[in-house]
Amino acid sequence: MNIKKDLETFDEIFTALRQDEIENPVSKVFEAQTLFETLDLSLRDDPISDDTFKAILKELVLKTPKTSSNRFFNQLFGGRQSRAVLGDLLAVVMNTSMYTYKVGGAQIGVEKEIIKQIISKIGYGEGSGGTFPTGGSLSNFMAMIMARDHFNADIKHKGMQQTLIAYTSTESHYSIDKNAAFAGIGRDNIRYIRTNFRGEMQVEALDKQIKEDLSKGLQPFFVNATAGTTVLGSTDPLNEIAAVCQQYKLWFHVDAALGGAVMFSEKYKYLLKGSEYSDSFAFNAHKMIGVPLSCSMIVVQDKRKLYQSFSNEADYLYQGDDDDLNLGKMSLQCGRRNDALKFWTLWKSIGTKGLEQIVDHQFELANKAHDYVSSHPDYIVYSHPPSISICFNYKNIDPKLLCAALLEEQEIMVGYGALADTTFVRLIAVNSNNSVEEFLEFFNILENFVERKGDELVK
Ligand SMILES: Cc1ncc(COP(=O)(O)O)c(C=O)c1O
Repeated sequence: MNIKKDLETFDEIFTALRQDEIENPVSKVFEAQTLFETLDLSLRDDPISDDTFKAILKELVLKTPKTSSNRFFNQLFGGRQSRAVLGDLLAVVMNTSMYTYKVGGAQIGVEKEIIKQIISKIGYGEGSGGTFPTGGSLSNFMAMIMARDHFNADIKHKGMQQTLIAYTSTESHYSIDKNAAFAGIGRDNIRYIRTNFRGEMQVEALDKQIKEDLSKGLQPFFVNATAGTTVLGSTDPLNEIAAVCQQYKLWFHVDAALGGAVMFSEKYKYLLKGSEYSDSFAFNAHKMIGVPLSCSMIVVQDKRKLYQSFSNEADYLYQGDDDDLNLGKMSLQCGRRNDALKFWTLWKSIGTKGLEQIVDHQFELANKAHDYVSSHPDYIVYSHPPSISICFNYKNIDPKLLCAALLEEQEIMVGYGALADTTFVRLIAVNSNNSVEEFLEFFNILENFVERKGDELVK
């Protein structure tokens, strides 16, 4: 075992990857079986030589889809923030587990500092707190569990006693549905509230549905509002939803996994107005901020709710220090990766102003792209600013066919989404490493491609 030598190998392979990202920003698509057979993935009894090992590893890395290149627009993450990468590499070599101060030491302070800052940005008061779960889906899950236990503290001991009803919009993330199954609420007890043409929850419909459920003797307990919906990037009317939750005494959760990053922007933070009234708030720094996957936070107005739902005594683990320093008492897992450090190294080095620039730049990219498609007669646009999603169709070409062809020909990696019955291309302005020119080049590539392929793209 020679870590220095392995780090040299890392440097060599990373340099090759960087070069390949520039020369071939979209990886060749391989049929899975062929790919798995071409690469030497097999694990055997005997060791292999260093040179063979290095060659196999390099091939493996270079044949993996390039999600950090300037042509990757397929999901809600992209680019590479080097200061955050540095932090994550250090987290790996320190191999800290974040459950106790005894083991985590200074790193516990890093996590607490970030949570403190996020809480203050949202506008939560004294007594609030938070933690880093493994992602947005799990953050939403923790919110639902806290809401359930807040409604009836016996459930965690005795199991479900009655039918509880949760509310979310038709545009919300699918984790809400899955989480209802895990939490014992049941998928059938989620009420999907319709949205307007912008993809924002219709609050009158929410109110009507709650009344209807109450009149049937059911128990509403939880409302999920989304700040930055997965497809359109819309934000539900948080202030109005907060008022409904207050009226019916329901847990108000804001899923700001995508849109929460606007908290750093003087220009766009108004989008989160109303979050200060929420009971819980989820935010992913691995989306708009560009911290390596995954870096997710949930903060709660009353941090006792985290302890009430997630703490467990364990003598072998908690050997001193108060609960405030033993972060494991607030988390779903036992051993927990240090996801805070990579966000901290970025934030510490570029400051809150640097985070603001990242966010504002993404909106600048998105606004320019939106202006372009809305002023061009061959595009139909479905998304609405301010949003980092630009959803459109071009020349009536089937978006699924178009996205598949662009990938197959190694032009662009972009995906599609849908609102009601309409499917469209979903371009995401989430990679803040892209300049405006690089981002708008997307349309040039797309139009030239369609021009070249012509009839092949028509069904
Ligand atoms: C609005 C929203 N919430 C939650 C999630 C889930 O986050 P994660 O992928 O970290 O589980 C996503 C993912 O795209 C999302 O868009």
